[in-house]
Amino acid sequence: MLDYKKIISSLIELDGVDKNDLEKLITETKEIEKGDYSLPCFSFAKVLRKNPVEIANILCEQIKQKYHPFSSIEAVNGYLNFFVDRTKFCEDYFDFCDNNEVIYLKPYQNKTMVIDYCSANLAKYLHIGHLATTVIGESVARINEALGYKVVRLNYVGDWGTPFGKMIAAYRLWGDKQDIIARGVDAVQDLYIRFAKEAENNPELEQLARDTFKALENGDKETVEIYKWIIDITIDETKRITDTLGITFDSWRGESYYNNKMDDVIKMLESKNLLQTSQGAKIVDLSDFGLNVCLIQKSDGTSLYITRDICAAIDRYKTYKFDKMVYVTAVQQKLHFEQLKKVLSLCGYDFSDNIIHCAYGMISLPEGKIASRKGKQALLKDILVEAVESAKEVVKDKGDELDIDEVSEVVGIGAVNYCPLKVEKVKDTVFDLEKALSFEGETSPYMQYTYARANNILERIELKNLCGVMPDYLSISDDISFELIKNLKNFNNVVISACEQSEPSIISRYLIDICKLFNRFYHQNKVAGTSPQVMSARVNLTMQFSKVLKEGLRLLNIKVTQKM
Ligand code: ARG
Repeated sequence: MLDYKKIISSLIELDGVDKNDLEKLITETKEIEKGDYSLPCFSFAKVLRKNPVEIANILCEQIKQKYHPFSSIEAVNGYLNFFVDRTKFCEDYFDFCDNNEVIYLKPYQNKTMVIDYCSANLAKYLHIGHLATTVIGESVARINEALGYKVVRLNYVGDWGTPFGKMIAAYRLWGDKQDIIARGVDAVQDLYIRFAKEAENNPELEQLARDTFKALENGDKETVEIYKWIIDITIDETKRITDTLGITFDSWRGESYYNNKMDDVIKMLESKNLLQTSQGAKIVDLSDFGLNVCLIQKSDGTSLYITRDICAAIDRYKTYKFDKMVYVTAVQQKLHFEQLKKVLSLCGYDFSDNIIHCAYGMISLPEGKIASRKGKQALLKDILVEAVESAKEVVKDKGDELDIDEVSEVVGIGAVNYCPLKVEKVKDTVFDLEKALSFEGETSPYMQYTYARANNILERIELKNLCGVMPDYLSISDDISFELIKNLKNFNNVVISACEQSEPSIISRYLIDICKLFNRFYHQNKVAGTSPQVMSARVNLTMQFSKVLKEGLRLLNIKVTQKM
């Protein structure tokens, strides 16, 4: 496939200017009147001792003498603007598409990425707060996989800490085994909520929770038994939800696994002279780095979230030898991961440079924040059920031959999934189901519908009649169609940027844009009922659009159906 930036840089001879630097200066232009590619000549002024306008004029004349694939080149106010020959551009691009099943170059083959996401605290249902980590994590995983990474998906469940003291204490006080067997996490959650409520008036309960957790840490047999039993139930429930979202983890090893391996961490930190004692607790002082004090062990000897993370990171490096490790959590944990990286780096672990904290903002429902303790939570399982039910209402008038159940599942779950991927991940978002299910506006049903529409166009055409027909690419060289083609060609670069920034919204933004362009293309141009040459060109465009859209949506973990 022609690389126009490379071509431009090869056409320009400038003493003292490196070809690679030159290529980086070239931009794809947004305004049609400025051509398709543009090279600003301002930075050459110093080296060449000429003004940029003059340089652009000279270069323009030089290039025009050479053989090149552009339809015109203009020097305007110190810029060199290149207009591609649209027919040639199409020919080259669609030939490439024809001969290559996949749309990716895989620059990261033989590299391994570990990604830690979902990682919910157990004994509670997944609520809307877990949607972002789960969905963003899966998308980042797919994006990296598409570009060649071998991806290891970890659900580092929160199965340790005082909340489990509360849960077990509550079970002993008010719990009913049969009820838990029957209602699962619902019943466990009720106990947890009741404990929090009663503890407001009865502070002794907090101490009871701490003692119970201590007994668990010390391996008290009966406490451990209750604990294990409840954890198994909740893991099963959590799995059911991640299954619904089409997500499979390679490991569910949680915090508790690292609990009895803490001594090694403490010893290591001591041997590196990093550990200090402060009021009976053990700390690493990171204040010189502006990262506060990092508490490693409480005065009662219990470990902390960060201690377990240090231990887990080292263990994962030993196990997977990863090239990068990504943690997907709320932005509130920023300091935690900065501390984690710093401690690992002070210990001499170079892999700490390859740790990425992929942080996201808050998702709320239109009513406001989601309380997580005092009851009333927007549970993910309820949201999913409601989304599919509501999708049924929206879809049911769309046509008799539709499989309503299938389509509403794809639309409903797609809409929930799309919510955290729609805007830049650090931004707070509101999940408004009604809007999310609309077929108009920048929504996932809009994209799914556009996919079905493209499919519908293709279905009505006898593709075999177009075999061997020379496509008339002039018929798709109008501004709208051509804008779409340029965007399609750019797909690989879009995925690479999304990968480099761990930012799926780059893809979702792009997909919305190409859908809008496709709908405009289709509005202005007939596909069926034209000459075979024109039809062939427009079919190529429609097919390629549908391929890119489907793959892009797959990277966001959004499914499509052929009809809608
Ligand atoms: N369980 C934690 C929470 O719910 C998230 C864990 C993220 N992963 C990690 N390795 N710290 O906030």
